[in-house]
Amino acid sequence: FQTPQLKGKHLVITAGPTREAIDPVRYLSNHSSGKMGFALAEQAARMGASVTLISGPVTLPTPAGVTRIDVTSAQQMLQAAEQSLTRCDAFIATAAVADYRPSESAAQKLKKGEADLSRIELTENPDIVATIARHSMRPSRVIAFAAETQDLEAYAQRKLDKKQVDAVVANDVSRTDIGFGSDQNEVLWVTRDQSQPFGPDTKSAVATFILEQLMTLDTSA
Ligand code: C5P
Repeated sequence: FQTPQLKGKHLVITAGPTREAIDPVRYLSNHSSGKMGFALAEQAARMGASVTLISGPVTLPTPAGVTRIDVTSAQQMLQAAEQSLTRCDAFIATAAVADYRPSESAAQKLKKGEADLSRIELTENPDIVATIARHSMRPSRVIAFAAETQDLEAYAQRKLDKKQVDAVVANDVSRTDIGFGSDQNEVLWVTRDQSQPFGPDTKSAVATFILEQLMTLDTSA
């Protein structure tokens, strides 16, 4: 990205939790609010990018000018992500994807007493951002998030290699004043050759910081 604006660029952002069905009424999920991904989508659109926001179930309004694709499960999120690669300059994974899904999802509601609900067999979900980073149609920039409770930088460095991404945005989820559900966030932008802290600030200020870092990212190094 040569200019400080995102005009002409297409960004794909995943956001929110995924929901993994046990049966038609029960699921496994997490408390992700989707706020960080939605703030990124909003700021990127303001900076002139065309934005596809692939969102799990959240209660947030779609930011102006953003194309939103609603999904429920990790498998659906991966499918939507792969389909978005035909025109994608940067992929940013903020979604809190469920690590596992029930191996079988019952077609009918499981009844207490009839089905053994005390154990649910699980299957590992695909790692969406790692799949996109290794894809034959890999976008030139792929960014992951890391929610950690200690040693942010070391874990972020490990994640860069494990997922083959260009940068990891790490945040400390042991703090109750920032992160999950909050309107505030404090992050560490980690690439293979630099690490830069930002915040605490609003999620939209953090989003602007991340997009500015993204524009200066040199993936040829
Ligand atoms: O491995 P971990 O869950 O800590 O990595 C978090 C990062 O990876 C986030 O960017 C998240 O969106 C992404 N992720 C993913 N698919 C998964 C798990 C995590 O895209 N199945």
